[in-house]
Amino acid sequence: MNRVFIKTYGCQMNERDSEEVAALLQARGYQIVHDENDCDIMLLNTCSVRDLAEQKALGKAGHLAARTRRQPAFILGLIGCMAQNRGAELIDRLPDLDLIVGTQKFHRVPDYLDHLRAAREAGLPVAQTIVDVAEEAGSQNIIRDHLVGERTVTAFISIQQGCDMSCSFCIVPRTRGDERSRPLDDIVAECRELAGRGVREVTLLGQIVTSYGRRELARPGGRTPFVQLLERLQEIDGLARLRFTSPHPCGFKPDLVEAYGRLPKLCPYVHLPVQSGSNRILRAMNRPYTRERYLELVAALRAVRLDMHFSTDIIVGFPDETAEDFDQTRELFEAADYDMAYIFKYSTRSGTPAAALPAQVPEEVKEERNQLLLRLLERNSRRRNQALVGTVQEVLVEGPDRKGLRYLGRTPGNRTVHFVGSASLIGRLLPVRIERSTTSVLYGTPLEARVES
Ligand code: SAH
Ligand code: F3S
Repeated sequence: MNRVFIKTYGCQMNERDSEEVAALLQARGYQIVHDENDCDIMLLNTCSVRDLAEQKALGKAGHLAARTRRQPAFILGLIGCMAQNRGAELIDRLPDLDLIVGTQKFHRVPDYLDHLRAAREAGLPVAQTIVDVAEEAGSQNIIRDHLVGERTVTAFISIQQGCDMSCSFCIVPRTRGDERSRPLDDIVAECRELAGRGVREVTLLGQIVTSYGRRELARPGGRTPFVQLLERLQEIDGLARLRFTSPHPCGFKPDLVEAYGRLPKLCPYVHLPVQSGSNRILRAMNRPYTRERYLELVAALRAVRLDMHFSTDIIVGFPDETAEDFDQTRELFEAADYDMAYIFKYSTRSGTPAAALPAQVPEEVKEERNQLLLRLLERNSRRRNQALVGTVQEVLVEGPDRKGLRYLGRTPGNRTVHFVGSASLIGRLLPVRIERSTTSVLYGTPLEARVES
């Protein structure tokens, strides 16, 4: 009666939170399973960023309610952002929910499940859904357990939570709370331990990672706390690559730009959310930069690392976005020469300032703009990938690909490479000659002859 299946919606931070909940549950004697039809407890770790994500989780939970009736001991929990955003109000819609746990209370999940199971076993009906969406000081410091397998090469590390910006479209400050950072030494210790277990690449996670430690830490010599952290991680033996997501363009102070020329482990890949290329819309979004400043930053980063790769987040159809505004976005999109982009149709989030704006853009217009950018992205990714054919890329080998025919790894610029390899290569940095490309992947041959099968 203790088999838990966790389904995760949304971002990498949610993936990491699920991993932490899984680790805590396992330590408590629960079994983590990967077949949703064969579990006793199901937890949906939810996302609230767009309406579609909420609808998906609500649909799933509604569907599962039938199972609660068929299988009386079954426990259904909703955790994470939507739990935080909607709290007890969810019970009106989903009366069969057993558990609602917000983003600062993940560590309480094992206790709550113990309680629910004990009641079930004693044959007691638990009359009420357990709801815990309170704030908790220090909760950012709790997420540190990993379920690292023998051959885990990459790991995500939570360094910071919450966001104090107030982008007018965004629900995250509400679902994730105020900015809080973990102590620098804790993060370094966690990364050192992971490196000792064979992890070669870490991705630092936070809602606004570049703000790391800005309230808690001093700035000796004017160095931002985030750069201080990168410098410390650079020193860890065994660790080969450092990545991070998501930053804010305003977090790229000169010391961070310059760090790309100085810290060899820092990968030449930046996810730099722009949201819009129109200064008028950026102002309405409350994004404190201009298109000119953004493009200057892209150019400065490319000047430090010629092989820099960029990805971005873009919202099309923000209220009152005109054809001219969108044209500016399209222009910027081409000028920045992205390898990858996440393009979203604006979704009204109730409680955010943008939700109250008049002149909401019709759905068809959003769709048209979305399609146009997707076509541009496809063309650009294909061209950027094609340009790598004939080069030799250093690939960090992660494991077999999904079909099990080849192995895969990523270039420093975060492009996926498939090649014929062997398990002994996992975790190694391997020179691979790129021979063929598609929009999203590269194919190549390792230069080292020693590929036993
Ligand atoms: N810095 C955060 C951003 C979270 S939201 C993080 O990565 O953790 C991720 C992206 O979703 C944003 O950059 C934005 O492009 C998009 N997004 C946020 N709110 C949205 C909304 N209301 N409608 C459409 N897209 C949105
Ligand atoms: Fe959201 Fe803006 Fe923060 S997009 S997470 S409020 S930087």
